[in-house]
Amino acid sequence: MDKKKLYIKTWGCQMNVYDSQKMADVLFPLGYTPVDAPDDADLMILNSCHIREKSTEKVFSDLGRLRDIKEERAEQGRKPLIAVAGCVAQAEGDVILKRAKYVDMIFGPQTYHLLPEMVLQANGGERVINTDFPAESKFDHLPEATTGSPSAFLSVQEGCDKFCTFCVVPYTRGAEFSRPPEQVIEEAKRLAGQGAKEITLLGQNVNAYHGAYHGENHDLADLIAAVAEIDGIARIRYMTSHPRDMNGHLIEAHRDIEKLMPFLHLPVQSGSDRILERMNRKHTAAEYLDIITKIRAARPDIALSSDFIIGFPGETDEDHQATMDLAEKVGYASCYSFKYSPRPGTPGAVMDGVVPEAVKDKRLQELQALLFAQQTRINESMAGKVLPVLFDRKGQKPGQLLGKTPYMQSVYVDAPERLFGEIVDVAIARAFQNGLAGKIVTVEEILPKKSA
Ligand code: 5AD
Ligand code: SF4
Repeated sequence: MDKKKLYIKTWGCQMNVYDSQKMADVLFPLGYTPVDAPDDADLMILNSCHIREKSTEKVFSDLGRLRDIKEERAEQGRKPLIAVAGCVAQAEGDVILKRAKYVDMIFGPQTYHLLPEMVLQANGGERVINTDFPAESKFDHLPEATTGSPSAFLSVQEGCDKFCTFCVVPYTRGAEFSRPPEQVIEEAKRLAGQGAKEITLLGQNVNAYHGAYHGENHDLADLIAAVAEIDGIARIRYMTSHPRDMNGHLIEAHRDIEKLMPFLHLPVQSGSDRILERMNRKHTAAEYLDIITKIRAARPDIALSSDFIIGFPGETDEDHQATMDLAEKVGYASCYSFKYSPRPGTPGAVMDGVVPEAVKDKRLQELQALLFAQQTRINESMAGKVLPVLFDRKGQKPGQLLGKTPYMQSVYVDAPERLFGEIVDVAIARAFQNGLAGKIVTVEEILPKKSA
């Protein structure tokens, strides 16, 4: 078969990373193999994210570069295709189609299984736009995973019905949908068969998971327990959760299921009840802290992570102080914090009490100083410990592997390549804000020779 080159640039969340992988899987039978640069690609896809900031502008600036490549290649008699996928395509497909005449395909996150058909149409000279929410699930049609990575993502749930007033996801990804448990288990088994040792169950609202099997509903904790039964899977994670769906069953899973890693990403967004209400989060700061207390009782060493939005309309100095106080109380291992950016079409975009950029900047700096100090302190507390590390990436230097601790910290280790994909005991020697460095623990170190 004719070999063709596929370039995908991905922005945004883990769901998008997963989606890009799926696009590559769907296009593999058509002869497309992934490449790292667009320069001689036959199909160039921008898998965009719409959640924050000037996402449409970012897409247009990248499109300009791809257009130049397309024009150069046209002079050589080739006709590479340019596609925009993801949430910007979903939300602003029409605008892109009008403004960028050289774009061949625009398609939203629910249509990736139709990609081969769309590519054929586009190669035949048609401009394709597909931003439907089809009645049939794409999950019934996507091919088997081909990743082979020791740490794999598995999408179990998509979309969201929560309508936080700052967020575009309910509009771009559509209503909440859970994949049937048997489909998830089959995919997890296949991933294990391809060498995955760690599986991260993904969903915009992953702990809202409710899959029906034989007439009974199964929640995320049930799903985790089922995946934990699969031979070869040593580690399970899930992302991203909402505090409202953090039920007792899931909290108990952190106590009872050994393979469930001691890490929880539980976004709080703000520590002020007034702002949480304006955000339509439907929980208070005290309720969030109560969950943290319960999860720590279930799994005392759990590493916690959150997302924060700074400068939501109406946020006062007191509200910001409440966010600082909450962060101080929790003690996070890692966090994402963003300045609020109004997203067109969301209720937040027309709320009064807009916070000036300079105030947002100052508050963000203050919060990040606290969060970075917490992260550094937690990383430093690992120095001198021996931790099991899953080597899932190659380091930048030759002879170096990168791995993850159970707590999600990255660890740099000098290690032979044959250890890639293995879980190995590492003695943590140094800690940085963003990660750790260590040394493989040898058998001699674990079992010192007995003196004669
Ligand atoms: N502005 C800033 N941050 C946002 N997020 C979502 N929407 C916005 C917005 N309009 C952040 C939230 C969410 C994360 C994925 O992105 O913190 O949890
Ligand atoms: Fe967006 Fe809120 Fe849904 Fe998360 S829960 S995807 S922040 S609307």
